[in-house]
Amino acid sequence: MPADLLRLENVNVFYGPVQALYDVSLRVAPGELVSVLGGNASGKSTTVKTVLGLVRPQSGAVFLERRRIDGLAAHRVIGLGVGSIPEGRRVFPEMTVRDNLLLGAYTRRKEDHAADLERVVALFPALASRLHQAAGTMSGGEQQMVAMARALMRRPKLLCIDEPSMGLSPLYVDKVYDVIRRLKEEGVTMLMVEQSANRALEVADRAYVLQNGRVVLEGPAHELAADPAVRRAYLGETA
Ligand SMILES: Nc1ncnc2c1ncn2[C@@H]1O[C@H](COP(=O)(O)OP(=O)(O)OP(=O)(O)O)[C@@H](O)[C@H]1O
Ligand SMILES: [Mg+2]
Repeated sequence: MPADLLRLENVNVFYGPVQALYDVSLRVAPGELVSVLGGNASGKSTTVKTVLGLVRPQSGAVFLERRRIDGLAAHRVIGLGVGSIPEGRRVFPEMTVRDNLLLGAYTRRKEDHAADLERVVALFPALASRLHQAAGTMSGGEQQMVAMARALMRRPKLLCIDEPSMGLSPLYVDKVYDVIRRLKEEGVTMLMVEQSANRALEVADRAYVLQNGRVVLEGPAHELAADPAVRRAYLGETA
């Protein structure tokens, strides 16, 4: 069995006196799409931020391949090949789409930028005619495309995605998931946080469910999706 690409071992995270994660352990194998599900304030974003080096665990460990990365600064983690599509997208509104994308390439060699740009625009054809538009004037769905394209400029070995469908119209949710599916086919390894469990479980290989900062359930996505008790207890179904 290949070594895990990402592994969290008994991670405990505090914000001041408040504990946000309790002994969270999870793993992502190369090529896998793993989803972290859970309701509001369950610790999903904190889990991703811990991987990205934006939050430091008080105890526990995070490994990227065999290297321990908890405690590294965020720019070092990025430099090791971890890409991020943050919650709420956060494009640079005053900058053009093109400049937003090139920012994503900053760890790549300048000679590669044109090819990188061409590759991501091929993934998001709608951006081709928008490269000189200020990113802040784009719709929410379009901005999500920019944020995804920006993260892909660097060809990350692990892509962390926080709530890609949040606030999007059904049309854009479909588009976003089409891209995620395509990336999966290309072999991109992903850790994806989602509140809308149904969509996430359709594309994920495995999933973890967080409740109040604890992993309360984990398993193959199709098993979680098929279990009515699980759906009722953890995935927000009322019927
Ligand atoms: N910077 C911070 N300072 C203090 N508490 C924080 C901070 N960030 C998060 N928290 C707390 O940690 C807990 C987990 O937050 P987190 O953002 O990880 O949840 P989430 O599952 O991503 O929620 P949502 O679905 O609303 O995005 C929450 O109780 C939150 O209030
Ligand atoms: Mg969140």
